[in-house]
Amino acid sequence: MAAFFSSLGKTIIAGIVILIAIIFIMGAGGKFGEHAWWTFVMRWLHVLSGIMWIGLLWYFNFVQTPSMPKIPDAEKPAVSKVIAPAALFWFRWAALATVITGLLLAGMLGYLGQALMVSRPFHAIGIGMWLALIMAFNVWFIIWPNQKKALGIVTVSAEEKAAAARVAGMTSRINTMLSIPMLYCMVAQQNAGL
Ligand code: HEM
Repeated sequence: MAAFFSSLGKTIIAGIVILIAIIFIMGAGGKFGEHAWWTFVMRWLHVLSGIMWIGLLWYFNFVQTPSMPKIPDAEKPAVSKVIAPAALFWFRWAALATVITGLLLAGMLGYLGQALMVSRPFHAIGIGMWLALIMAFNVWFIIWPNQKKALGIVTVSAEEKAAAARVAGMTSRINTMLSIPMLYCMVAQQNAGL
């Protein structure tokens, strides 16, 4: 048992097996030919990748960044050289996966253009999509390039390194702020009757 759960790959496969069992127990197997079923699968993939992205954003802001001053200097490289690069890998690719699945979902629901124009009745998801698109832009074009300098993945001068850490940290904070209204808008489209 312990050996099984020491493997992340096996754990993920077990989760998928349980999911498939639940799908058939619920009798959803007969719906595979329906567009609505595949739209729902896309919605699920979208929420999965969104949780990976925003979960890691909140890990950086709620856990890692506030903990750094409490870690002795000699031990800091464990975070900056090992944990942060691994977290940033999943963070930026989850951001991209969330954008792709979100845009595909809006396309499958038939309102991508109207949502991007923020026109009623798709204004809630439209605002959410724009907030999330700005956040994803920040991840790929501001946070990641600056984190590469701040973490020493790209070699720069000490001043440039400090400036890059400030920009990355500030942008990450901005994304944390935007995540609050963004998530409200994501769930509002189906649930708030706005
Ligand atoms: C550019 C990025 C994004 C796009 C284009 C996008 C697009 C969409 C669309 C089209 C929907 C369906 C709305 C509906 O009609 O119910 C949706 C729902 C949702 N999205 Fe996003 N989204 C993005 C980012 C995110 C992020 C970062 C999260 C974070 C977890 C997220 C979480 C959700 C959730 C929880 C729902 C509601 C699912 C439901 O009510 O069934 N989205 N999104």
